[in-house]
Amino acid sequence: MNLVFLGPPGAGKGTIASEAKNHFGIPHISTGDLFRSHIKGDTELGKQVKAILAAGDLVPDSVTIEMVKQRFLESDAKNGFILDGFPRTIAQADALAEMKTLDAVVNFVLDREQIVKRLSGRRVCKSTGRTYHILYNPPKVEGIDDETGEPLIQRDDDKPEAILNRLSVYEQQTEPLIAYYREKGLLVDIDASPAPEKVLSALIKAVQK
Ligand code: AP5
Ligand code: MG
Repeated sequence: MNLVFLGPPGAGKGTIASEAKNHFGIPHISTGDLFRSHIKGDTELGKQVKAILAAGDLVPDSVTIEMVKQRFLESDAKNGFILDGFPRTIAQADALAEMKTLDAVVNFVLDREQIVKRLSGRRVCKSTGRTYHILYNPPKVEGIDDETGEPLIQRDDDKPEAILNRLSVYEQQTEPLIAYYREKGLLVDIDASPAPEKVLSALIKAVQK
């Protein structure tokens, strides 16, 4: 199963992908997670993209496409994948079409008010990337990761100014991909507003049709 998860920031792509990957037995490839792990490891790429991510802008296409190309060379991606956060521009989508044939593009649909609520309440464990929400998915002990016991942090790009910028970048650069994939007959719309387990079961049903 070669899947793409498309949708606005905060729609729950990462949350659902972390369960869907077990259901389908395929890796979850999040370009945002890959960039964040470069930043954490202080690699050359990490240094190059740190300020871009903090501001909520897009990393240049050439850099992002090359990173995905390299990731596809790893053996776990041979029998399928969930791409989360890629492609985000028409140029990235064209590049992906040269690399892989897709089975479906899942479009996570959520209104702006919910998006902002989800992003502003998100907290993450820096070392594992595990994601919580102060209201919708709180940790057992406030501010502490359930597994590692480390303090939870707020992503730089979940601060109010960066949230607004990410939404406008999404509308200008990524939203056109909805029509792009609908035309190709690959788009599957999913209501992202219910609880995660409901979103997951609707998604499984929809992509297996
Ligand atoms: P990325 O990490 O991909 O960020 P994003 O698209 O903005 O998406 P998010 O991770 O913010 O949201 P999500 O949909 O995964 O939601 P989540 O599951 O966490 O990218 C970060 C940056 O990297 C970009 O801004 C850019 O700079 C760069 N980048 C990445 N890819 C790139 C590309 N292709 N090209 C160029 N640059 C690129 O959920 C959000 C919150 O809601 C959580 O708190 C969660 O607990 C909660 N939640 C989730 N589902 C539910 C639910 N069903 N009900 C209630 N709460 C829920
Ligand atoms: Mg994510």
